[in-house]
Amino acid sequence: MAMVLIMGASSGIGLATAKLALERGHSVVAFARSADLIPLEHPKLRKLAGDARQSDDVRRALTAVDVVIQTLGVPANARMLTGPIDLFSAATATLLPLMKEAGIRRLISVTGFGAGESRSSIPPLQRLGFNLVFGRAYGDKDVQEQMITQSGLDWTIVRPGVLINTRVPGRYRILTSPQDWRNGIVSRSDVADFLVRQLTRDTFIKQAPVLVR
Ligand SMILES: NC(=O)c1ccc[n+]([C@@H]2O[C@H](COP(=O)([O-])OP(=O)(O)OC[C@H]3O[C@@H](n4cnc5c(N)ncnc54)[C@H](OP(=O)(O)O)[C@@H]3O)[C@@H](O)[C@H]2O)c1
Repeated sequence: MAMVLIMGASSGIGLATAKLALERGHSVVAFARSADLIPLEHPKLRKLAGDARQSDDVRRALTAVDVVIQTLGVPANARMLTGPIDLFSAATATLLPLMKEAGIRRLISVTGFGAGESRSSIPPLQRLGFNLVFGRAYGDKDVQEQMITQSGLDWTIVRPGVLINTRVPGRYRILTSPQDWRNGIVSRSDVADFLVRQLTRDTFIKQAPVLVR
């Protein structure tokens, strides 16, 4: 069983992952600025309020941790269009040296279909719309991915398609080969299922699979 730090555990994929990890016997440090409001109670859960950009907060969160999962997100509002967005790169720049300092090697990061080299799998016309709406966020996710792949850590980048909400995980596909990459829906519970499974397996180390149903 792992002691996992989930950065961005107060909502969405992060909250679903915290819940599932606890159900499957892992210990969880649930980190977010609003961590105190996380609607979970469990003997193996520690809620820790902090900012992922702040070294002191992140250093405190890393105590006794084996694995880090990043599920940070920015609100889907007008700022996504007008930017600037640097949360993903800034939080990762804070995290990586502190993980090394603490001797933690395993990092699992959620970015999204369209980040990094997966952008070229979006058909050209759709890519125009994608760049218009998500260009700022995904530009920053590109930088985040580059930092991670150059980190020397045992990383896995996870690129879900369009997120929906379901109560329990369903059947989803794990697309590891670029020729198979495509967009599609996937639920936050599916992504959580994939993330929690990676706590006890090395199959996807140094890989960046796309997840869709
Ligand atoms: N929506 C889609 O269809 C889609 C598709 C593919 C990928 N994605 C990506 O999937 C990821 C998760 O999305 P989601 O919608 O499930 O999550 P979300 O609801 O956006 O949750 C984001 C989490 O990040 C935390 N956070 C934000 N800024 C923080 C900071 N400075 N310090 C610490 N924590 C911070 C938030 O908590 P606090 O605000 O309390 O700090 C929250 O827990 C995102 O990166 C998103 O871009 C989304």
